[in-house]
Amino acid sequence: MSTTFNLDTSTSRANPTPQPMKRLTVPGIRTRKQDGVTAEPIVMLTAYTARQAQLLDAHCDMLLVGDSLGQVIYGLPSTVPVTLDMMALHGAAVVRGSYHAAVIVDMPFGSYEESPAQAFASASTLLKASGAAGVKLEGGAAMAPTVAFLTERGIPVMGHVGLTPQAVNVLGGYAARGRSDAEADKIMADAKALDDAGAFAIVVEGVVEPIAIAVTEAVSCPTIGIGASARCDGQVLVTDDMLGMFERVPRFVKRYDNIAESIASAVKAYAAEVRDRTFPGPDQTYQPK
Ligand code: KIV
Repeated sequence: MSTTFNLDTSTSRANPTPQPMKRLTVPGIRTRKQDGVTAEPIVMLTAYTARQAQLLDAHCDMLLVGDSLGQVIYGLPSTVPVTLDMMALHGAAVVRGSYHAAVIVDMPFGSYEESPAQAFASASTLLKASGAAGVKLEGGAAMAPTVAFLTERGIPVMGHVGLTPQAVNVLGGYAARGRSDAEADKIMADAKALDDAGAFAIVVEGVVEPIAIAVTEAVSCPTIGIGASARCDGQVLVTDDMLGMFERVPRFVKRYDNIAESIASAVKAYAAEVRDRTFPGPDQTYQPK
């Protein structure tokens, strides 16, 4: 199946679709895990732009508009400065560029931690502006009342435990979590609290493998691993990391391509042709009839 299609400029929607497909839903994703078993692992990648969404969509169950866009797109030092407006605009672009995957948008730091009411206002703004199917927020037991509040009011929530990048200033860095008994117990308690509160899935990030497996076995909803374990119910990576856009990536990232090198060599060739006046050539210039 072709993975590219046009955006209809009058509706800004992916149109026509390569094949008429019904977009996956949050309940459909949630029920992929039945009685502790996920027969077909859930595939998730980050997406930030319409074109990126077009290319990923047919292959993914979920597209995550991650607040990692702070570093990946905006060159920020962490996810802390990311705003609700950034998430809403990129979320809308990814929804416009997709027709198949369920699109989930990250709640940025500062937009939900204060109270369930603050979280509802932010999450509803994100869903209205983007058309996404649900939101993701970081934090465990402390966020469980918020997860229940949103879920009971019609907003599907994906949790995120273990290494939670928005808490980098408390954690002191991005090292793997769960190496001490206290950390392992906390990750397990956080995941169970989110599950009980109604999270439809939980990202388990940067967690030592035995704890990731134990969490996956302990919760009823699907776990989505990143730097965790192949035995999670699904996996997510930052797309730009797995495509090889950056020189340095965490060790849990597998590079499936090296597009930074392709871009650099294409740009080098272009620059040389501009400088020796071989671009534009006859094929790229207009002549009078
Ligand atoms: O922001 C993000 O991209 C994420 C994933 C890495 C899980 O939260």
